[in-house]
Amino acid sequence: MSKIIALANQKGGVGKTTTAVNLGIGLARQGKKVLLVDADAQGNLTDSLGWNEPDKLPVTLATIMTKIIMDEPVEPGEGILHHAEGVDLMPANIELSAMEVSLVNTMSRENRAAKLS
Ligand SMILES: Nc1ncnc2c1ncn2[C@@H]1O[C@H](COP(=O)(O)OP(=O)(O)OP(=O)(O)O)[C@@H](O)[C@H]1O
Ligand SMILES: [Mg+2]
Repeated sequence: MSKIIALANQKGGVGKTTTAVNLGIGLARQGKKVLLVDADAQGNLTDSLGWNEPDKLPVTLATIMTKIIMDEPVEPGEGILHHAEGVDLMPANIELSAMEVSLVNTMSRENRAAKLS
């Protein structure tokens, strides 16, 4: 059975990204299959895992969520990056901030990310 752990806090700089990386890699070392989802338009999680220019990535969370909203097909594993430490990553970049604006008019917007799993 899969578990979703969300690390969210409105306050900036409190360790959300640092916790995500270390918890993710720690769980992978215990043999768990881990998908880290960067849901921050700053792309810091993506950057900290070594993809240092998130804005140059062709497929990110924004791309996949746009497809889901447009009812376009998404291939299994599409856009997911594989890290040497044993975790997978759905990256994010600045396109996610535009996405947040378009989600305002989307039906059931609070459930869109669930379709990723
Ligand atoms: N447990 C810790 N002890 C000391 N420093 C830490 C710890 N966790 C995080 N930091 C440092 O605090 C700073 C902010 O951490 P981080 O980027 O993870 O926060 P964040 O909540 O993701 O920030 P943002 O709101 O900008 O996304 C970083 O410089 C990080 O190295
Ligand atoms: Mg962060």
